[in-house]
Amino acid sequence: MLPSYQIDGREQIDSESIGGNMQVKPGETSRLLLESLQGYDFNKDLEETGTVIQIGDGIAHVHGLLGCMNGELLEFANGNTGMALNLEDSNVGCVLFSEAKGVREGSKVKRTNRTMHVPVGKQLLGRVLNPLGEPIDNGPAIKTDKTRPVEALASGVTERQPVKVPMQTGVLSIDSMIPIGRGQRQLIIGDRQTGKTSIAVDAIINQRNTGVICIYVAIGQKASVVAGIVETLHRNNAMDHTIVVCSSSSDAAPLQYLAPYAACAIAEEFMYGDHSDVLIVYDDLSKHAVAYRTMSLLLKRPPGREAYPGDVFYLHSRLLERAARLSDDIGGGSITALPIIETLAGDISAYIPTNVISITDGQIFLESELFHSGFRPAINVGLSVSRVGGAAQTKAMKHVAGSLRLELAQYRELQVFSQFGSDLDVSTRERLNHGSKLMATLKQGLQAPIPMEEQVIILFNAKERFLEKIISVDVSRYNKGLVVYFRNTAADLLASIRETGQFSPEAEAKVRQLCGAYAQSFQPSSVHK
Ligand SMILES: Nc1ncnc2c1ncn2[C@@H]1O[C@H](COP(=O)(O)OP(=O)(O)OP(=O)(O)O)[C@@H](O)[C@H]1O
Ligand SMILES: [Mg+2]
Repeated sequence: MLPSYQIDGREQIDSESIGGNMQVKPGETSRLLLESLQGYDFNKDLEETGTVIQIGDGIAHVHGLLGCMNGELLEFANGNTGMALNLEDSNVGCVLFSEAKGVREGSKVKRTNRTMHVPVGKQLLGRVLNPLGEPIDNGPAIKTDKTRPVEALASGVTERQPVKVPMQTGVLSIDSMIPIGRGQRQLIIGDRQTGKTSIAVDAIINQRNTGVICIYVAIGQKASVVAGIVETLHRNNAMDHTIVVCSSSSDAAPLQYLAPYAACAIAEEFMYGDHSDVLIVYDDLSKHAVAYRTMSLLLKRPPGREAYPGDVFYLHSRLLERAARLSDDIGGGSITALPIIETLAGDISAYIPTNVISITDGQIFLESELFHSGFRPAINVGLSVSRVGGAAQTKAMKHVAGSLRLELAQYRELQVFSQFGSDLDVSTRERLNHGSKLMATLKQGLQAPIPMEEQVIILFNAKERFLEKIISVDVSRYNKGLVVYFRNTAADLLASIRETGQFSPEAEAKVRQLCGAYAQSFQPSSVHK
């Protein structure tokens, strides 16, 4: 028992009696404390953790994460990850990337101090990934040492240069009348089942041996449809230069929301790092907007027009702005974006379609009526436009396709009139006949891209009216035969058009002569006889 005495009725211990004569000096104590604290890393094991106060529908509200950043990754105690999206006074609204099994009210949540990143690099080529960058094709794990942030600022205006190199899709009507350049954002828009995906897939297939890297992003698609697309790409030897980022309709809305940004980050590594040209297909952004709407409503953000949140325009503008053609000073490279939008009953003036039309540099408008009448690809040339791609078109193509748009417009107009009367004058009948042959020429099957020089020959042949006497059902066979004839008899001419992109008067004379010779040798089908 230590000796003690009382002050104001409270018991005190006699300090002198602890260890005999030992005096506790305040200066000494603070020195000892300071010494022992010196070199201690206060930040070392400090983690900001919070507690789930509410969980439901894949959204967790977390209390206690005061320093949390917008878009920061959060780790839940059971291994789930999520992203902080709503930073409020008393809590943080966080979306979960997977099913919230095991996350309960009261579960601990840890900050990671980093925003969402995805692995990037050449190792991803030929693979199918989820939006987190994890392979889902049963292949080996992907070993990359580089990652990029999913959300990144688009390059500024001084880092860019105008679009002037063509991005050939291999689709005759697109390359001739709605040309796409590298770095352009061209919207593919149309009702469901009008061939939107097919055009994008054909464009990817056509990039074989061009050095262009392709990324196909499936957003909210059925997994079986995506598997079919991957299979098509494999069958056409197009998977070597392609990456598929897939968020299927069964994935959580936040994963679908993330997919295009993650894919864009992967594309940016090729553009900024390797100075390559990239073609990226967002299939489709209507479903992306719906996924974002779901998330926003669950996060209790105020709904606006069609219940989309107020920032739905920014959702797509910041994504598509990242498509660019970089200036030569920073190494060139480009990202060409082909976003896809699904319309309802051809209504292009709905909210999301008008938004995306205004963000892109043109649109390819597909029509159900044309599709069902057998005109495929069902491109409505009158409503489709490319605002920048013309500068990227080769001279040869410009030469043969210059009047095509006008001739088709005249044809459509005359067609409407001709329905009312049968006695047409000769010139009208000629124009109608010519228009119908042009339309037949523009029909194209699936996965059958046509190289630029062969497109030039086919269009020249139609323009010079070699098809006038051929019946419509024969046109496709005629054109196929024509290309084979040129390959066999004038391979050097085709090569010179391909390499120079020019269509000189001498070349034109030679092509005209060969077209005439082929027309002589063509055997019409028996229907005609
Ligand atoms: N040029 C074409 N020639 C023949 N068939 C075609 C052509 N383009 C598309 N198709 C066929 O039309 C169907 C629909 O095509 P696709 O899936 O590309 O349309 P979509 O608009 O992407 O449909 P969804 O709205 O379901 O995404 C497919 O079966 C496809 O094979
Ligand atoms: Mg589709």
